[in-house]
Amino acid sequence: MIDILNSIKTDSISKINDIDSLHELDQLKSFLLGKKSPLMDVLKEIPKIPAQDRPIIGKQANQLKEDLTNCLNQKKQELINKERDHFLNNNQTDISLPTSGLPSGTYHPITTVTRLICSILNRYGYAIKQGPNIESDFNNFEALNIAPNHPARDMHDTFYLKNKRVLRTHTSPVQIRTMLMQEPPIKIIAPGKVYRCDADTSHSPVFHQIEGLFVDKHITFADLKGTLEAFLQELFGKNHAIRFRSSYFPFTEPSVEIDVSYTVNGKTSWLEIMGAGMVQRNVFRHVSYDPDSYTGFAFGLGIERIAMILYEIDNIRLFYENDHRFLSQF
Ligand code: PHE
Repeated sequence: MIDILNSIKTDSISKINDIDSLHELDQLKSFLLGKKSPLMDVLKEIPKIPAQDRPIIGKQANQLKEDLTNCLNQKKQELINKERDHFLNNNQTDISLPTSGLPSGTYHPITTVTRLICSILNRYGYAIKQGPNIESDFNNFEALNIAPNHPARDMHDTFYLKNKRVLRTHTSPVQIRTMLMQEPPIKIIAPGKVYRCDADTSHSPVFHQIEGLFVDKHITFADLKGTLEAFLQELFGKNHAIRFRSSYFPFTEPSVEIDVSYTVNGKTSWLEIMGAGMVQRNVFRHVSYDPDSYTGFAFGLGIERIAMILYEIDNIRLFYENDHRFLSQF
């Protein structure tokens, strides 16, 4: 039996020495020490041998088991070191070098301009309201005194959905939502996305507006003009001229459009940036306000247009292309 143990030892050690990978070593371990291994066969035979021989053989067999286990562990460590050295020699990255740094993002110019406008108007006492992008025909058109045959309702301007729903064509429905929910005084602004079937260098099918509404007793056109002049002066500084043009919106009477002068590539022109006016009496009737008790003014401005002026950009599409070279300039 001693001979058998000795030959198991020589044989096992030579097998361990021949191994070259951790995977093979694992397999060999179960072959040498597992339940069906030659060593286990010897251990199983021990009860059958004469009693006086058992301690010696038992001791030898256990010693062999311990030796083989040590030998396998040592081989394992050798292979791990070898793999690590191989990896380090073939992937010569100098981990002590400083990194190039992670590029940090910036706000999109539309976000920056929206925040800027909201922060100015917040200071004038306007609270921020939001409404859904999918609107009812009532909120988007009817309550705003836009007649069923008004061109704004044309398929060419409006994305119609099922069940008399539309993608809102302006932020004005937030006026209606607010007035239906609360009594005057009301002083709100509503930033958000709006949608129209329209696309060229200064029109996009999705763009951004900010709506403003101030309703109380005795609000006059002078309040409208004073507020918007002060606001635009703060937004653009003294370098841009502003002009009010009389205009028409079904939901305001009288109405104006406001243009700002801007210069791109040495050429100065006017860009229309907002519509405004005194809230039309029919709008008040639709939200059950008494038009003889309350007056108010509303305005709606296009955020892209304002960003184009502030950053001297001549193509609206640049805002939506997500070109890193463009966006990283802000
Ligand atoms: N809703 C109008 C538009 O989208 C803008 C506007 C708002 C005009 C409020 C007057 C008053 O063109």
